[in-house]
Amino acid sequence: MENGIIRLEGVSKKYIVGGSDFYALKDVNLKVGKGEMLAITGTSGSGKSTLLHIIGCLDKATSGDCLIEGRSVGGYSDSELARVRNMFFGFVLQDFALIDHRTALYNVEAPMFFNRTPAARMKKIALAAMERVGIADQSSKEIVNMSGGQKQRVAIARAIVNDPAVILADEPTGNLDEKTTNDIMDLFCSLNNEGKTILIVTHDRNVASRCKRTVSISDGMLYESRDKE
Ligand SMILES: Nc1ncnc2c1ncn2[C@@H]1O[C@H](COP(=O)(O)OP(=O)(O)OP(=O)(O)O)[C@@H](O)[C@H]1O
Ligand SMILES: [Mg+2]
Repeated sequence: MENGIIRLEGVSKKYIVGGSDFYALKDVNLKVGKGEMLAITGTSGSGKSTLLHIIGCLDKATSGDCLIEGRSVGGYSDSELARVRNMFFGFVLQDFALIDHRTALYNVEAPMFFNRTPAARMKKIALAAMERVGIADQSSKEIVNMSGGQKQRVAIARAIVNDPAVILADEPTGNLDEKTTNDIMDLFCSLNNEGKTILIVTHDRNVASRCKRTVSISDGMLYESRDKE
């Protein structure tokens, strides 16, 4: 696996709760190779989102090292971190983090606002991403008027417009019916087949079983599940 596209070395995340230390992550070591499709499972509160946020440079570890393509992000300036977040990662966050009173198209275009893409090109790329996730016909709808599954697809379209190397998805199929879940997993599998590295936090065994590798978190500690056939 060489050195991995993402590597965590002894990563801990400590919060002070009611005057005492609470570890959301404890000494986590993880190596993710380029092109992997990894499921992260664990009970509610075990530390899954915390892990994903640290990997995606949305949050910082309190100790340990996070390396992206072999470089420790600890030494990155705020602008370097912003660039990594915007260009290297595509996020599908647990609460979608969409802008409610804007159209689906505006939301999908948003990651491109930071890299000075001309408006016409931005629209073309956004519509192609929406086509890919099957919601191009909903592009002018405001987010508030969309269903959970449609919002989920908008969030996925937004995650892919900058053609990121790594997609970080936090419960991307939470609250979706089986058919929509399968459609969304088909989409992640096809993105993975194109070479994208994908990390998916999930409670759903079927979703995990479609990933090539599974790790689980329990009380902030990470365990490798046995490799699948
Ligand atoms: N700002 C904070 N201060 C204190 N504790 C926090 C903070 N943020 C998260 N935690 C705690 O860290 C632990 C891990 O939270 P996290 O959101 O990573 O869980 P999770 O595995 O994603 O859960 P879920 O499946 O419910 O989304 C939880 O016990 C949570 O209460
Ligand atoms: Mg979570």
